[in-house]
Amino acid sequence: MSNSNAKSNLPWVEKYRPSNLDDVFGQEEIISTVRKFVHEGRLPHLLFYGPPGTGKTSTITALAKEIYGPNYKNMVLELNASDDRGIEVVRNRIKEFASTMQIFSRGFKLIILDEADAMTSVAQNSLRRIIERYTKNTRFCILANYSHKLNPALISRCTRFRFQPLSENAVRDQIKYVIEKESLNMSMKAEEALLKLSKGDMRRALNVLQACKAALDSANDEIDEKMIYECVGAPDPEDIETILDSILQEDWTTSYLTFDRFKKTKGLALIDLVQAFVEILSGYELKSQTRIAILKELADIEYGVSRGGNEKIQTSAVIGVIKAAMENEA
Ligand SMILES: Nc1ncnc2c1ncn2[C@@H]1O[C@H](COP(=O)(O)OP(=O)(O)OP(=O)(O)O)[C@@H](O)[C@H]1O
Ligand SMILES: [Mg+2]
Repeated sequence: MSNSNAKSNLPWVEKYRPSNLDDVFGQEEIISTVRKFVHEGRLPHLLFYGPPGTGKTSTITALAKEIYGPNYKNMVLELNASDDRGIEVVRNRIKEFASTMQIFSRGFKLIILDEADAMTSVAQNSLRRIIERYTKNTRFCILANYSHKLNPALISRCTRFRFQPLSENAVRDQIKYVIEKESLNMSMKAEEALLKLSKGDMRRALNVLQACKAALDSANDEIDEKMIYECVGAPDPEDIETILDSILQEDWTTSYLTFDRFKKTKGLALIDLVQAFVEILSGYELKSQTRIAILKELADIEYGVSRGGNEKIQTSAVIGVIKAAMENEA
């Protein structure tokens, strides 16, 4: 297989993974701080934490490339901290890596520990001793989604950086680039929907975009708003309006049937519909009493659904909540 062909078969999240720090969007402050550490030769242990798809792994690997260039392979060890085989394996690999002599280059070796928050607290405890033991010639970069799942003693050994969900502008920059590179045809509304639904997660934005491309009959067809909702598995706001109108204006049986029909024909999960109702209702003008009543009860229903509550009963409950609240409003 030719190289370009191999590249074109890659998932876009890999194909468009930033190859240097300048291609990481929306995290400028973190990047300039970390770069400064490197240039001043005082890189501390790092902790990058924050929601998925915001560039933690991309940032540290791009930084490592910037530091080590062609020497990357010798100087960087990437480990999944939550390795199923346990902390022993992690410890041994670190030991082996950290104690190998650096013949050709000076400076610190870098150990990247991904998914550290998935480690047991016992494992995290032994990790902090490992870090201490090898601080002389290595630097650790710990990656995690949730800092509250990390041992405070571990955190205190690192300089912390919180990766925020990416701004819509940051996601837009990358999406526009990919649209151009892939010669996609996409409506403005679809682009806006994609940005909104990605919620600052670039991985999700790219995956949805690639799924839309794959769903096109012909490569030149336009990607529209509806496709975006379908690929995300999120309800189309138009459908939500229709269901809501039916609940507000039609009798119980008819609104139940409408609700059920949309669930089945569009393959929508009740829990996504409940979330969509909450979102759309936030744009309605309601008495605060009404709003509170609806939100409280929808929250209970959402919890019920997530705990495996009966679908039919929960669906009826959604209709009941909205009908009751609106009668109150009138
Ligand atoms: N800030 C960003 N700028 C450009 N692309 C990004 C950015 N963040 C994420 N991406 C894209 O999303 C993909 C996944 O990003 P990355 O692996 O860096 O996320 P992460 O923050 O490490 O997520 P996780 O917590 O799930 O490990 C990358 O390959 C890249 O294509
Ligand atoms: Mg990552």
